[in-house]
Amino acid sequence: MKTHWHTIIIGAGAAGLFAAPYAAKAGATLVIDHAKKPGEKIRISGGGRCNFTNMYAEPKNFVGQNPHFHKSALARFSQWDFVELVDQAGIAWHEKTLGQLFCDGKSTQIVEMLTTRLAQAGAEMSMETAVNAVTQIEDGFRLDTSKGSFTCQNLVISTGGKSIPKMGATGFAYDVARQFGHKIIETNAGLVPFTFPDGRFASISGVSLPVRVWNDRASFEEAMLFTHRGLSGPSILQISSYWQPGEAVHIDLIHGLDLREILRAQRQSEGRRQLSTELSRHLPGRLVEHLTTEWAGRFDLTERLADQSDKALDALLGQLSDWEVIPSGTEGYRTAEVTLGGVSTDGLDSKSMMSKTIPGLYFIGECVDVTGWLGGFNFQWAWASAHAAGRHI
Ligand code: FDA
Repeated sequence: MKTHWHTIIIGAGAAGLFAAPYAAKAGATLVIDHAKKPGEKIRISGGGRCNFTNMYAEPKNFVGQNPHFHKSALARFSQWDFVELVDQAGIAWHEKTLGQLFCDGKSTQIVEMLTTRLAQAGAEMSMETAVNAVTQIEDGFRLDTSKGSFTCQNLVISTGGKSIPKMGATGFAYDVARQFGHKIIETNAGLVPFTFPDGRFASISGVSLPVRVWNDRASFEEAMLFTHRGLSGPSILQISSYWQPGEAVHIDLIHGLDLREILRAQRQSEGRRQLSTELSRHLPGRLVEHLTTEWAGRFDLTERLADQSDKALDALLGQLSDWEVIPSGTEGYRTAEVTLGGVSTDGLDSKSMMSKTIPGLYFIGECVDVTGWLGGFNFQWAWASAHAAGRHI
C-alpha cells in the first residue's frame, strides 16, 4: 500500500465514508478504521432499516454550544441532496413518521451505496488498522498505525462519539483534538433512556402511550415507554439530550385528550364509576393501576366519580398533565444513540470543518459538538459535515 496520501480519513463510519469520494477528487485518499467492517452503526441504525435523513431537517433540530455553527454545512448539503443519491442508487425508501426517511429494505444498502461511491472515486480503505500516534510534520501529518506509517497533507477525523463502546466507539477524536490544542465540550450520553431507582416502573414495563415531555429548554410530543430500568421511547430519548443530572422532567400523560369535559360529563351520567375505571378508558390500564398506588397519598383513584368536586377533578387533571419526575440518571453510553458535546466548534471553520489553527486537519460527524434530534438528523449532520470537508479538500 502507498505510504503517502493526499488525504487520510480516520473512521469509516457515516461521515468518513461519505467524505472520501469528495476528497478523492483532489488526490489519493485512504480511509482507515480499526473495525472489521465499515459503517457498522449505519448497519444497526433505525432498527436495521437506517433512518438516513429527515424531510424536515433544519438548524433547530441540532444541539450544541453554538446554535449557528451547523447552519452553513446543512444549507449546502440538504436532506434532499442525500435523498437524490439514495434515489440514484436505486434504494427504495419511505417516510415512517414525522419526516423520518427509512430504507424499505436493509440499512446495509446505505453502507453499500457509500462504499461503492468511495471505490468509484478511487479512494481506498484499510480496515482493522489501529492508529497509534498522529504527528504534525512539515507538510502535513504522519500516522503510526498497526499497518505501518503513513503521511498525508490532509487529515480528516471522523471517529464518531463514545456511544456503544461495544461496537468500537472510542474517544479518539477528542484525544487528537486536545493534542492539537482544540477545546472539548464536556461529553455526555444523548438520545438515551432515563433510569429510576428501585425499579420504580418495573411493574409496568412495556406500557407505552403518546405524551408531551418537556423541561425549561425543550418540549417533545411523541411516544413514551416504561421500562424495567425507567423511561424510554422517542419523547424521552429526545428530552434526554436537553437534561442535566438532578433536573426534573415534566410529562403530560393526557396530551391531546380533553379529559376535563369527559370527566365532568361522566360524573353526571356514570357517577358510581371509580375514577380509576374511567381513567383506564383513556389511558393504559396498567399505568392507571400503577398511579393508583404511586399517588395514593395525594389522590384516591378508587373513589367514585360522583364524589369528586370540580376542584378535586382539576387537581387530578393538573397532576396527569404535569407529572414531574426526577430521573436518577441515564443508561449512559452503553445504549445512547449519540454523544453530546465533543470537539468545540469555536476552533473549526463552519464552511469547511477545518481547524482554524492547524491547516489540513478536519473534524466531521458526531465527534463535533453538534448533536441532532432523534429521527435521521444525526446522519444528516454526518453527510453535511462530510460534504463540507470533502469539498474543501
Ligand atoms: P460513526 O460512529 O458512524 O463512525 C465512526 C467510525 O470510526 C467507526 O467505524 C469506528 O469503528 C471508527 N473508529 C472509532 N475509533 C477509532 C479509532 N481509535 N481508530 C480507528 N477507527 C476508529 N442516526 C440517525 O440519523 N438515524 C438513525 O436511524 C440512527 N440510529 C442509530 C442507532 C443506534 C443503535 C446508534 C448507536 C446510533 C444511531 N444513530 C442514528 C446515530 C448515528 O449512527 C451516528 O450519529 C453516526 O453514525 C455518526 O457518524 P460518524 O461517522 O460521525 O461516526
